[in-house]
Amino acid sequence: MKKRIAIFISGRGSNMDAILRQAHEGILRDVCEIVLVFSNNPDAKGLETAKSYGIATICIPSKGKKREDFDRAVIDLLAPLQIDYIILAGYMRLISPFFIKTYRDRIINIHPADTRAFQGVGGYDWAFENKLKKTHITVHYVDEGMDTGDIIEQRELDISKMTTLGQIEKAGLALEHIMFSEVLRKLFENEQ
Ligand code: GAR
Repeated sequence: MKKRIAIFISGRGSNMDAILRQAHEGILRDVCEIVLVFSNNPDAKGLETAKSYGIATICIPSKGKKREDFDRAVIDLLAPLQIDYIILAGYMRLISPFFIKTYRDRIINIHPADTRAFQGVGGYDWAFENKLKKTHITVHYVDEGMDTGDIIEQRELDISKMTTLGQIEKAGLALEHIMFSEVLRKLFENEQ
């Protein structure tokens, strides 16, 4: 059975785009179905990209809402859709404990750094400012903390010869786009 997936985004959605492409005609095609792209930000550029694939999109603006109220609305939205996994692809909001409990071990995030060394926003800036020689892209389960859940897979990125933040971001995102779908494929096919 194909896994039923909701992708959550807050902005550009380039990771979402990569996953949609793989689900449409690549390595995710036979293991999952993207049921919904959800955003907390009405201006998220990725919403337009999702529509261009013919995927259902829903936005509930989070601005000005209490975290609990907002997360309850999102749970209510997802309930009839029988979602197996929620994929966070640049979803820049901490998720409430009751939401995590509902989808325990079924929410997966990508983070542009080693989550044991750096959490939060700006993983590439952190690597650049600290003049790291290598950094690690991490795909992990989401728990109650910020970027603290169990690591599913990490991939090393050699940034020793890169002199600008732009170079690091470009190389990092290229790796994210390949890695995320490959990790999801392994996870979903192991559960068939
Ligand atoms: C990606 O680099 C992702 O790893 C990062 O946000 C960017 C979203 O880009 N996520 C985090 O920092 C989570 N803590 P995208 O919208 O183009 O996929």
